[in-house]
Amino acid sequence: MKAIIPAAGLGTRFLPSTKCTPKEMLPVLDKPVIQYVVEEALEPEEIDGVIIVTSPGKPELLSYFQPDRSLEALLRERGKAEYANAVAEAGGMPVDFRYQYEPRGLGHAIRSAADATAGESFLVLLGDYVVPSRSICKAMLEVSQAHGGASVVAVAPCAPEDVSRYGVVAGERAGSLAGFESVGDEEPGAVWRISGLVEKPAPADAPSNLYIVGRYLLSPLVMDLLADQEPGKGGEIQLTDAMARSLEREAMYAVVVDPLSGYDTGTPSGWMATNALMAASDPRFADEFWAAIDERGGLGR
Ligand code: G1P
Repeated sequence: MKAIIPAAGLGTRFLPSTKCTPKEMLPVLDKPVIQYVVEEALEPEEIDGVIIVTSPGKPELLSYFQPDRSLEALLRERGKAEYANAVAEAGGMPVDFRYQYEPRGLGHAIRSAADATAGESFLVLLGDYVVPSRSICKAMLEVSQAHGGASVVAVAPCAPEDVSRYGVVAGERAGSLAGFESVGDEEPGAVWRISGLVEKPAPADAPSNLYIVGRYLLSPLVMDLLADQEPGKGGEIQLTDAMARSLEREAMYAVVVDPLSGYDTGTPSGWMATNALMAASDPRFADEFWAAIDERGGLGR
């Protein structure tokens, strides 16, 4: 099974930093954001490759996932084996690329990788959200396997006024992940059967406050439906709309996840907070990170 990571956007919110550097290449600690998402995608044993959908103007993404034998050799020669290994690791990941030639929306980006999924179910991981525990895809696969290979999305509760930023699901409680039988309907581990999906509804029209967090396990039918999906919200071809159409023919489930299991990297302030939070809890960086902050009297506000 393949995992698709859309990475074709302009990174407007990070300009001018993203004038020459794709936003997916911005670092979180010592690795580019995209590498966290690729590693998360490859964590379940069912996944045997990642397809990054990018635009032709971002050759840096392709170079990053290519081996660089001369850099590796130079680093080894200089006794920097740890860096050489890190370079080798990035260049050895099973990552392939497809192009989205026009910015026509998330659904269009995913459809651009149709040939790579070979008629099988596939994962979608949006790159603005880093999940260090890598636990969400495993939960979606568990739910899908329990329901005959059905599509599954990860959802989390949000404040009612925030629903218009997301895809939102309608449905009813249909069970739990193994080991989470006693959790409430909107608590991590709850499983819902989906009866409808709406992209960025006005709060008054939202069928629930459970929003799609950016992790999907989708059936081949959704990929087929994307082929003739009409533009929706914002004039873009919406993945959510093709998923909604698939409900006429197939069941779909949602698994509730802890919204704090992921870190936002999609806005400058989210990305900064993510770096700070992850540095503060990473034994490789925490001591020096805090020392640098404390030297200036702490972060106080
Ligand atoms: C996309 C999806 C939306 C989902 C969101 C998660 O929206 O269309 O359904 O809830 O990602 O981040 P975007 O953030 O690209 O506008």
